[in-house]
Amino acid sequence: MEILEQVSKYGFVTDPIGKNVDLVAEIQRLKKEKNAVILAHYYVDADIQDLADYVGDSLGLSQQAAATTADMIVFCGVHFMGETAKILSPSKKVVLPDLNAGCSLADSAPADKFADFKAQHPDHLVISYINCSAEIKALTDIVCTSSNAVKIVDALPKDQKIIFAPDANLGRYVAHKTGRELVLWDGACIVHVDISEAKLRALRTNHPEAKLVAHPECKADVLIQADFVGSTTAILQYVIESPEQEFIVATEAGILHKMKQAVPHKKLIPAPAIENNTCACSECPYMKMNTVEKLYKALLHEQPEITVPEDIRLKAYQSVNRMLEMSKA
Ligand code: 13P
Ligand code: SF4
Repeated sequence: MEILEQVSKYGFVTDPIGKNVDLVAEIQRLKKEKNAVILAHYYVDADIQDLADYVGDSLGLSQQAAATTADMIVFCGVHFMGETAKILSPSKKVVLPDLNAGCSLADSAPADKFADFKAQHPDHLVISYINCSAEIKALTDIVCTSSNAVKIVDALPKDQKIIFAPDANLGRYVAHKTGRELVLWDGACIVHVDISEAKLRALRTNHPEAKLVAHPECKADVLIQADFVGSTTAILQYVIESPEQEFIVATEAGILHKMKQAVPHKKLIPAPAIENNTCACSECPYMKMNTVEKLYKALLHEQPEITVPEDIRLKAYQSVNRMLEMSKA
């Protein structure tokens, strides 16, 4: 089957890889040959993080995608991240190892329903969390990430009415931090809402010295217990800089890789999910669709490629760029 046919049928290149291929060496070689950059989110597997040129949170990854001089961006993350890279760098080829890597937040907001919702609130400014499709970004005034949402809302006039989409938990957190009333879209991250408040409480009883660090996509009953709330980069930084020695980490378990490397002497305990799963932690099934094999094939075949229609891209660029401008120190 042709490569493009495989991608359109399965979402990734399904061709088998020869037995003797040294994947790591080949990825390094192809990267140089094609002047490609590998960007990875903290939630992808450790072996991919170790191959990446840059590992970061959504804001850091967007800034890298906007600034890179590479000809090709291989985005080891999820679909909306690849789209954001394409929105910011339209002349670059952007590939995602597996097109099935979606996001429950992005899926919660179909563009037609969101356009109706927006039309019901004509005097509201739309702030959208970056975890949404290019179409939603095109309907948005300012994009935000978990690291700048509070700052962006705080920068707006107090009487400005605001729609915040699509993450209702992050929206409630921002409303609480800024003292503002926000009209919320009812989306959620399936990974963070699955962190069990009851199991967390029991864990804290067994580890009374441990500080709880949490991502703002968690529910309020988790956030209210947290000693620190922040984006993945902010959580990592807090754990590195804190004089404390023990932490319960309430976000996707992929972050533990960089944390363990940065503070090998500290005790890091993943927050438990409601259901017993294989790692007794929280894993994003979409982020975990990225594998070293798919990364290799994406580099080799330059597929699956992310495309965004130019009329959508131009509108989405405005809202993403506004965020980048407002995030400058
Ligand atoms: P940040 O990268 O902003 O911490 O968000 C985490 C996330 O859920 C990405 O999908
Ligand atoms: Fe989406 Fe949640 Fe996965 Fe992030 S962790 S990509 S918000 S489903």
